[in-house]
Amino acid sequence: MMTIDKYNFAGKKAIVRVDFNVPLKDGKITDDTRIRGALPTLKLILEKGGALIIMSHMGKPKGKVKPELSLGQIVDAVSAALGTPVKFVNDCMKADAEAAALKPGEVLLLENLRFYPEEEGKPVGLDKGTPEYDEAKKALKATQKEFAKKLASYADCWVMDAFGTAHRKHASTAVIADYFDADNKMLGLLMEKEVKAVDNVLNNIQRPFIAIMGGSKVSSKIGIIENLLGKVDKLILCGGMTYTFAKAHGGEIGKSIVEMDKLDVALGVEELAKKNGVQLVLGSDCVATDGLDFGTMTVKPGSQIINCPANAVPAGLEGVDAGPESRKAFAEAIKGAKTILWNGPAGVFECDDFCDGSRAIGEAIAQATKEGAFSLIGGGDSVACVNKFGLADQVSYISTGGGALLEAIEGKVHQR
Ligand code: 3PG
Repeated sequence: MMTIDKYNFAGKKAIVRVDFNVPLKDGKITDDTRIRGALPTLKLILEKGGALIIMSHMGKPKGKVKPELSLGQIVDAVSAALGTPVKFVNDCMKADAEAAALKPGEVLLLENLRFYPEEEGKPVGLDKGTPEYDEAKKALKATQKEFAKKLASYADCWVMDAFGTAHRKHASTAVIADYFDADNKMLGLLMEKEVKAVDNVLNNIQRPFIAIMGGSKVSSKIGIIENLLGKVDKLILCGGMTYTFAKAHGGEIGKSIVEMDKLDVALGVEELAKKNGVQLVLGSDCVATDGLDFGTMTVKPGSQIINCPANAVPAGLEGVDAGPESRKAFAEAIKGAKTILWNGPAGVFECDDFCDGSRAIGEAIAQATKEGAFSLIGGGDSVACVNKFGLADQVSYISTGGGALLEAIEGKVHQR
């Protein structure tokens, strides 16, 4: 298999799929972990005398041009990170002239690939499962090949370094591979590093092994939760999921986020944990408010903020962070762990009033790491948490993958 170290990039153009799906606020990047993660590959290609055509998606524009998801917003940040000017083409299908003119050491960034439905290969505006959807999907598969072929035509070789998107079978992450022979396609350094980190967790488990899963929905994490229940010694479930568990036991959760159709799933998770002898740690209390403004991530003046049991949230209030008892229980569970996986925050950490639960987890992980644990942090929000709390250099590995990391840990394999 060709590797980036062996490949002779001198005088060649490399089209590199990266995951620059970075969080933005008012057009400014709030966490650049993914850009920093891609730098070793991009810099190596430039150092070896190659030219770069960088491609990525941002967000979920669903086949439409959405200015707020334009990669044009990150051109300056990518230039600064690479230490060289970056040219930008505002249509990824119309970069022929710019790609042809690229000289060794030069860099071109293409506009968001997902502005075209062909990137994902999913029909837009039709209901899944209908004959119209199936028909449109079939047609799109054919044009997706043309789309991938066009991207491939810009370059001599293809480098896949988008670990965060490696679980998607899209034009730029998978289909494009058909248009390069084996000697001209390879994985980037970030992919190699991420796969090694996942291997470390899966094949070299030092016990106790604890996973901390946060986030708002049980439904989106149920696959990985069930999978982890076959591997870990302890599992902390926190964040918005807490209230689905509390509701499943008949608790009062006020206006907290809940998946009413997943109450049985929550009970099933508890049963499986018991059957497998896994210590399941759920938040027993929470911080609740009636005044969180999700737009500005601030609390409206005069609003209530209280600590209460997670199963007794007063009407009109919503749980937004782990309470003091839960924080203590989380830290206690993490203490002494030798392998740690964290994905998903314990509360609305973006708001300074509600980040204490996530901070308690981050600090306990840093402490355990100091005492010899291997800690793997994945998913945009958890990574943003360790960065926010200044703990990034106190954990073993920060992954650029969210869903991709979880699917890798689940051992999911996609067929093409
Ligand atoms: C992510 O943020 O997890 C990756 O960029 C993949 O994005 P997606 O879930 O929209 O495919």
